[in-house]
Amino acid sequence: MIARYAGGAVAAAPLLLFAFSDSAPPGLTGAPGDSGTCTQCHGGAVNSGGGALAIEAADYLPGQSQTVRVRISDPNQMRWGFSLSARRKSDPMRQAGSFTAGRFTVVETISGIQYASHFPAQQTARGAGFVYELTWTAPDDSSGVVFYASGNAANGNGATSGDNIYAAVKEVAALAPSSRPSVSTGGVVSALAFGGRRSFSSGSWIEIFGANFSQPAAVLINNREAFLGVVTPGQINAQVPEDASSGPVQVVVRSGDRSSEAVTVFKETESPGLLAPAIAPFRVGNRQYLAAVYPPGTEGCPAGQVCFAGNFAGVASRMARPGDRLIVYGIGFGAVAVDGAAPSRYVGVAPGVLNRLVKPVVFRFGQVEARLEYAGLAPQAIGLYQFNLIVPRIPEGAVQLNVTLDGSPIGQTLFLDIAN
Ligand code: HEC
Repeated sequence: MIARYAGGAVAAAPLLLFAFSDSAPPGLTGAPGDSGTCTQCHGGAVNSGGGALAIEAADYLPGQSQTVRVRISDPNQMRWGFSLSARRKSDPMRQAGSFTAGRFTVVETISGIQYASHFPAQQTARGAGFVYELTWTAPDDSSGVVFYASGNAANGNGATSGDNIYAAVKEVAALAPSSRPSVSTGGVVSALAFGGRRSFSSGSWIEIFGANFSQPAAVLINNREAFLGVVTPGQINAQVPEDASSGPVQVVVRSGDRSSEAVTVFKETESPGLLAPAIAPFRVGNRQYLAAVYPPGTEGCPAGQVCFAGNFAGVASRMARPGDRLIVYGIGFGAVAVDGAAPSRYVGVAPGVLNRLVKPVVFRFGQVEARLEYAGLAPQAIGLYQFNLIVPRIPEGAVQLNVTLDGSPIGQTLFLDIAN
C-alpha cells in the first residue's frame, strides 16, 4: 500500500502506521509553502553530508512531456529517498505541469500540489547512489518552472538516525515552439542540375526549398509519401512517388508533427531532364553545355577521374570526337521494362539489373541521330536514367543537341563541343 498522509499538516502527524521508507511524507521539498525538508525528522543540516542531490530537467516545450530525474549520491550511504515538486516560476505556491510516476516512484497530491517520491526507498551497495525517474508534462504556458527536491541518503538502519539530507532547486525555461515548415513560393522544382523544371513526374527527383525542415521529415505528394534524399533546414530532395494522377497536385512537407501549407505543383506523365548544371564550367554566358561523361578507361582521359566530354575548366575533360562513347544522365524519363516484369519507375529502390526505357528516346547532334547503346535506369542508382550513345559523324564546333522523348522535345537547349 502507498503510505498516505491525511490533511495538510504533514510534518506534525506522528502516525507511524506505515513505513516512511515506502514513500516520503509530502510537503517537504523546500518549496515555498512546504514545511522545510526531510530534516524535520532525519539527519543534521541540509547538504552537510559528503554527497549531493541533483534535479535533472531540461528546458521545455509547453505541453510536452520529458523525463525528469532526481540523482542522490553519498559515498557513505546505501538507501535512497526523495521528494520532488514543480512550481510555476510566476507563482511558486502553484503546481507547474504534472508528474506521472515511473518505476520506484509514486505521486501524491496534497492541496493541489503534486509530490513525487521514492516507492519504496531503494537500497544499493554503499556509495552507489540512485537515480529516480518520472515523466513530467510541462504546463501550457511559457512562464518558467522551478523544481524543488529534498532527498535522504540513508544508512539503511530503518530509522531516522545516521542519515544525510540534501536539497536542490532547478529552474527550467520554456523553449520557443519550433516553427512550422514552409515551402517557398515556386520552391518545388525538378532537380536543378537536370534543368530545374517547374513540373515533375512519378519517379523523378525534385528539390523543395523552404524553411524549418527538420527530421523526422516527410514529403507528401498528392497524399503519397515521397522517397527522401538530402534533408537540410532549407532544402529537401525527394523522389516523386508512384501515382497515376497528373495535373495540379498538392505537395506538403512534414517535420515531426508539424506540416507546411500545401503548395500546388503541376505533375506530368514524364518530365525529362538531362544532367547539365547551370553553373560553371557547364554554363558559359547564355550557353548551357550537356554534362556528358566518358566511360572509365577512355583514351585521353586521366585514369580514375570522372571525365567530361568538352573543354571544361576545373574538371577532367576532353573534346568529344565522332565515334566516342558517351554516358548522359537524366531524370524523369518514365517507366522502364525488365524482361518478364511489368514496367516500373523503381521509386525508392535501385533496379539492380539492366532495363530499357518504355518510351523511345532519340538523341540528335544537330540533325544527325546518335546510336543509343543503352537507354534505361542506371542499375545501381535510384531514379537516375543513363544513356550510352556514340557521337555521330558531324563537323567540329559547338553542336546543339535535339533530344526527344516519345517524339516530344525534352525542353532543354543543350550544347556539346565537338573536335575532329
Ligand atoms: C515525520 C518524520 C519524517 C519525515 C519528515 C521524513 N521521514 Fe523518512 N523516516 C521517518 C521514520 C520514522 C523512518 C524510519 C521508519 C520507516 O522506515 O518507516 C524513516 C525512514 C526513511 C528512510 C529509510 C531510512 C533508513 O536508513 O533505512 C528513507 C529513505 C526516508 N525515510 C526518506 C525520507 C525522505 C526523502 C524524507 C523527506 C522528503 C523523509 N524521509 C522525511 C520519518 C520521517
